[in-house]
Amino acid sequence: MAALTEKILVTAALPYANGPLHLGHLAGAYIPADVYVRYQRLKGSDVLFICGSDEHGVPITIRADKENVTPKVIVDRYHNLMKQSFERIGLAFDNYSRTSLPLHHKISQDFFLNLYNKGYVKDQEVRQYFCATCRRFLPDRYIEGECPHCHSKGARGDQCESCGRWLEPEQLIDATCKVCGSNPEMKTTRHWYFQLSEFQKRLEEWQASKPEWKSNVREFCSGWFKEGLTDRPITRDIDWGIPVPLPGAEGKVLYVWFDAPIGYISSSVEWAQNQGNPERWRDYWFDPKTRLVHFIGKDNIVFHAIVWPATLMAHEDFILPSQIPANEFLNIEGRKISTSRNWAVWVDEYLDVFPPDPLRYWLESNAPESKDADFTWKDFQVRNNSELADVLGNLVNRSLSFIEKNFESKMPPAGSLTEADQGLLATIAESAKCIGSSLEDFQVRRAVMELMDLARAGNKYFNDAAPWSSIKSNRARCASTLNTTLQLQLALAVLMEPFLPFSAEKLWKMLNAPGSHRDQRWHEIPALRLPDNHPLGTREILFGKIEDGIIEAQIKKLTISD
Ligand code: MF3
Ligand code: ZN
Repeated sequence: MAALTEKILVTAALPYANGPLHLGHLAGAYIPADVYVRYQRLKGSDVLFICGSDEHGVPITIRADKENVTPKVIVDRYHNLMKQSFERIGLAFDNYSRTSLPLHHKISQDFFLNLYNKGYVKDQEVRQYFCATCRRFLPDRYIEGECPHCHSKGARGDQCESCGRWLEPEQLIDATCKVCGSNPEMKTTRHWYFQLSEFQKRLEEWQASKPEWKSNVREFCSGWFKEGLTDRPITRDIDWGIPVPLPGAEGKVLYVWFDAPIGYISSSVEWAQNQGNPERWRDYWFDPKTRLVHFIGKDNIVFHAIVWPATLMAHEDFILPSQIPANEFLNIEGRKISTSRNWAVWVDEYLDVFPPDPLRYWLESNAPESKDADFTWKDFQVRNNSELADVLGNLVNRSLSFIEKNFESKMPPAGSLTEADQGLLATIAESAKCIGSSLEDFQVRRAVMELMDLARAGNKYFNDAAPWSSIKSNRARCASTLNTTLQLQLALAVLMEPFLPFSAEKLWKMLNAPGSHRDQRWHEIPALRLPDNHPLGTREILFGKIEDGIIEAQIKKLTISD
């Protein structure tokens, strides 16, 4: 039965180009998105996978101020570094764009004007902190002070990191300018507000039709609905960003959280242009049959589940998100990741020492789907050595070396299969189904465990069949055992693709299977067979063990700086 081709537009949150990519990024949004996309491609879905760097806003200017360089220097440096790290860890984006492109500026300004002309954006005078020393209005994150709730020092103007509450800058006790330390004064300025309050009813009705959303997302939203949505300023007084396209708005830029999600659209437009088919993005964004899936970390929920859908509703013609899989956070060795204090594992540095798949595997099997997860180097080593190497790698290695020795590296003939042989082959179909339905449900952890269980079943089968003894007594039986084990590996090479794409490709090549494992179809996996006497490829180690010394060096490298 050929399933109808589904059209799916998958996005992963645009990361701020203000630092290198770290494990927290990967765990929250990118690896889950990539697993999902690779699986959907094998299913034959029509997928467009979009991302890019978020290059505006205060996270960028703070970093630039700290290093005493222009924001442009910062975004150029980190856009390139992140893009490269994504490629090296195997993120299969169709397009990785950046929000500083003129194309994105134009699309964002047009979007703003569309809302403005319909009366969904209105200006208002507001009083805001102004630092006389720095001679500028202070964005929320440039203001620090004591939290009015938990009284910890160093709370930011938008949020207290200790108690997690959202704040308005004027609530801070003894507010100071983060740059120069002086106390700012209140001054009048003018900003443009998106009329979010007008969308509360529509948003609530729309979300009521999404019972399948994850509970963290639904609970978060119902909290906001209960408090009542208020209009939100979507302009800022800073000099880095997209100019507000209105007369009298000189010096003002669009708020980064207004323009960044529009980056999903402009990245799609850029993709279509690169395809030589500049209108093709419309097939996704304007077709109500397209499923729009936003992968994000939990700190992005309000923007993706409330504000962004409301701006899409206001614009009127775009599709709305179907799913917003939001993950919790990843800690490192028991501590919250901190870019500024250097408490992180950087993806580029990881990749200079290790291959990509072991990290992908750890992040998949520990995905922070329902609660925060904790990365430790020791556990990384254990998972690599005792699961990837000892289970999956061992199954491949022991059977291929056996065939090399006893069957001249050719596929041993299937002969007549026993119940045990057929039982193992039947497990493939079950596993493919379970893995698939877990992934449809965004449950990467469960899916990757099912994959590993299938490899375990392969090892158990191999042990029980004991080909090392049947080779002496019954060569045809021994051949059937090896044949069955290899047919399983052929299936595994495809099943591994969403999770371990580099190793999947390697295994497919070792089996010398025709074409590419990426051209196979998920529902055809159980029927995949290599013919009798098929010549196998060159055997390689699929997963090497990681020695203690290498891990200790990584642990040593991890030091917190103040
Ligand atoms: N840059 C934001 C962050 O890292 C995410 C932006 S997601 C988008 O938290 F929707 F705005 F693109
Ligand atoms: Zn100042």
